[in-house]
Amino acid sequence: MAAAPRLEIAAQGAKDPRTLEFLRSSPKKLLINGKWVPARSGKTFESLNPANEEVLAEVAEAGPEDIDEAVKAARKAFEDGPWSRMTPHQRTKLLLKVADLIEQNREQLAELSSLDNGAPIMGAQGLVTSAVELFTYFAGWPTKIFGETNPSAPDMFNYTLREPLGVCGQIIPWNGPLMSASNKLAHALSTGNTVVLKPAEQACLVVLRLGELLLEAGVPEGVVNIVPGFGPVAGAALSNHPDVDKIAFTGSTTTGKEILKASVATLKHVSLELGGKSPHIIFADADMEPALNFAAIGIFGNTGQACIAGSRIFVQEKIHDQFVDGLVQRAKAHKLGAQFEPGVTMGPVVSKVQHQRVLGYIEAGKSEGATALTGGGPGPQPKGYFVQPTVFTQVRNDMKIAREEIFGPVAAVIPFKDENDAVLQGNDTTYGLAAGIWTRDISRAHKVARRLKAGTVWINCYMVLDFTMPFGGYKQSGQGREFSNHAIEMYTQMKSVFVKL
Ligand code: NAI
Ligand code: MG
Repeated sequence: MAAAPRLEIAAQGAKDPRTLEFLRSSPKKLLINGKWVPARSGKTFESLNPANEEVLAEVAEAGPEDIDEAVKAARKAFEDGPWSRMTPHQRTKLLLKVADLIEQNREQLAELSSLDNGAPIMGAQGLVTSAVELFTYFAGWPTKIFGETNPSAPDMFNYTLREPLGVCGQIIPWNGPLMSASNKLAHALSTGNTVVLKPAEQACLVVLRLGELLLEAGVPEGVVNIVPGFGPVAGAALSNHPDVDKIAFTGSTTTGKEILKASVATLKHVSLELGGKSPHIIFADADMEPALNFAAIGIFGNTGQACIAGSRIFVQEKIHDQFVDGLVQRAKAHKLGAQFEPGVTMGPVVSKVQHQRVLGYIEAGKSEGATALTGGGPGPQPKGYFVQPTVFTQVRNDMKIAREEIFGPVAAVIPFKDENDAVLQGNDTTYGLAAGIWTRDISRAHKVARRLKAGTVWINCYMVLDFTMPFGGYKQSGQGREFSNHAIEMYTQMKSVFVKL
């Protein structure tokens, strides 16, 4: 039962002694009202290392009664805790303190996150930097959330107040847990809300460590509650809770729809960051080396487990074969392995379920007549959820592997004739999260950017995120925009005040 004896195997290669120290104090508890508590049911679940299938830690499993406690704590903190009396300057300082603490614990956070979801340590380190930037960026907002004075009759004085929404339920996935948690929390806290955060059951350890840092920074009790548990139980209890004012969700489109349905009973505010099947369009005049490098990063980065993965690579007919050769080379150059093995560039997918899912898509691709030029099966490792980076050609845009989000290292390469064909095929999807365009023809680049139905378009680059730019989906890739000034609107509401003079 106890996870400890095998921890040296489970967390093999971790260098920061505090990583093991954190994992040893298992079972991990829930953060409710400023205290670490077991689940009321006493239940726990195992958090695994997907590279070796060993248990990293046991984690308290939140049930509906824990969610209810957490929501009560968040409500109390919002209505009459010290949080509600803090000045904007104090909120700024607090968020900067959190950013500092993340920086100071950089290695431990990267290791925990990498162990839990399988990402090679370098990738996890990059996401720690993003977490620091998120808290730093949003720390600037509390002092810049303005209302307006409005034109009014001579005997009236009218103004608006921009106020927080209240208790925010936040539900996040496992593909970049520290960044997802930091993103959601920074949004909510900079705008004065309180939070019940449900991390994904596959990778919640780093989020629990972040919870410790929030307390260390001085976030008052009840302002942030962290409740790991399973989606259909803890997640559903949160999204159905009548005293939650907003749900912010990142994950699959299917679950996003469930969350939107659940919001109806009490008309919660909802923001959704969902899946994608993003077109990455390579014109014949593209600068070939960087186009190939980014096409490869776009689909193989994080083992393809990215909402913005460029999973449909459209290549102009003239350069198709040459481009495919380059992509295959780059796929083959990946070294699969565990988080800390030297030279490893690709980790496993996160879980057995995802492993079977991704391999199922690969089989579907083959049976629909696509050709796997490289990869096309599980990795050679005896343990762990490895998938070989796979490049499919002979793909038609109506095949399953070109329509559904695979969330694995599986590229579907599709030829196109001309600009119009690229746009029509690129837009022929239920998703609309992102798109990439490679061409040296500047006016074509802008024309195509306008015609693509996607929330983010990258020209001669891919997967660049900047928190000063809004991020979100067209079509079934989501609702609302995170990052930037637009996110501030999404976490606040406007009050109109009329004064008779
Ligand atoms: P999911 O969308 O079901 O899970 C994401 C989060 O939602 C987790 O915290 C989960 O516990 C929670 N959740 C699940 N069911 C819920 C419910 N009924 N009510 C409230 N919360 C719920 O995704 P899952 O099952 O982990 O992965 C399946 C597929 O979803 C992947 O293969 C991928 O295609 C897609 N996905 C997309 C992500 C993205 O960023 N675009 C992230 C994660 C998954
Ligand atoms: Mg795990």
